[in-house]
Amino acid sequence: MTFPTQVKIVEVGPRDGLQNENQIVPTAIKIELINRLAAAGVRAIEATSFVSPKWVPQMADNAAVMQGISRHPAAVYPVLTPNLQGFDAAVQAGATEVAIFAAASESFSQKNINCSIAESLKRFEPILSVASSLEIKVRGYVSCVVGCPYEGAIAPEQAASIAKTLFDMGCYEVSLGDTIGVGTPNSIQRMIEACAKSIPVERLAGHYHDTYGMAIANIYASLHMGLATFDTSIAGLGGCPYAKGASGNVASEDVVYLLNGLGIESGIDLAKLAGIGDWISSVINRPNGAKAGRALCASAPA
Ligand code: HMG
Ligand code: MG
Repeated sequence: MTFPTQVKIVEVGPRDGLQNENQIVPTAIKIELINRLAAAGVRAIEATSFVSPKWVPQMADNAAVMQGISRHPAAVYPVLTPNLQGFDAAVQAGATEVAIFAAASESFSQKNINCSIAESLKRFEPILSVASSLEIKVRGYVSCVVGCPYEGAIAPEQAASIAKTLFDMGCYEVSLGDTIGVGTPNSIQRMIEACAKSIPVERLAGHYHDTYGMAIANIYASLHMGLATFDTSIAGLGGCPYAKGASGNVASEDVVYLLNGLGIESGIDLAKLAGIGDWISSVINRPNGAKAGRALCASAPA
């Protein structure tokens, strides 16, 4: 398998990153972050989530964020929707793409969305049906594809079975979430192999949290398997409120640095990205989690 010549980056920092900040980040900062990412060439930015504000107060300003951003004509701004209520609110706020999220682990499903895996899939059916009538694209997530904070290791076939269900239900792409970042290249490759038996690899995305520092290695291993879409988070922002101790997604800057080194096109301006990572880290008073970002900023002319 040769590497893809192009990779799509789905920037999830404004959602997956900021949902896990203890502080509530002002809406204006979120909007500026999203606009700056689009200006740096990012063409898919997960902007927010339409979940219960009681569960995730950090995303309570979802409609204001969607209404405040300047939409780049070439960019998409997907949002998370756990149920029809969230989907309707997202559409009302102008969303043209949504993401539904299931888990490969029963315990994580209960903790994250307060229902079983089967119940969650049932809830997604009306979303897919209404989305299809409105021509809204639906992305699917599977959490805990290699490991769960409550159940430990997850069998590749279990992750693949949920991924296949989401794909068969009509998701145009299925993002494979190593929610707690426990995967290593071998376990990630085994999981992708299982998923690729029933879903074309070009419809799979890697969503790797970097808790154990393995995410870049896991992306490299995934590129070898033909994956060409990765979810990343500016400055490595984030974690997961229902996965204690999990770090943010792999930093966007580190992934673009890797891709540039491999000669793989992402369309993203790395210097601009590094500047954005530095800016958002200082605005929310958090260390910049992007190694490439820190190095680039340290060596940039004053
Ligand atoms: P529930 O409490 O079981 O919901 O929560 P319910 O249907 O019984 O409703 C209870 C209340 O919530 C009602 O309000 C509803 O109106 C309200 P009340 O009558 O009490 O005032 N409600 C809503 N409000 C706003 N938007 C909605 C909504 N739905 C119900 N959409 C629910 C179930 C799914 C809503 C809740 O558990 C929830 O919001 N969970 C979201 C958790 C979350 O956002 N987790 C993080 C994102 S997933 C993730 O990070 C993983 C990922 O990155 C991939 C990876 O890394 O693996 C994607
Ligand atoms: Mg995540």
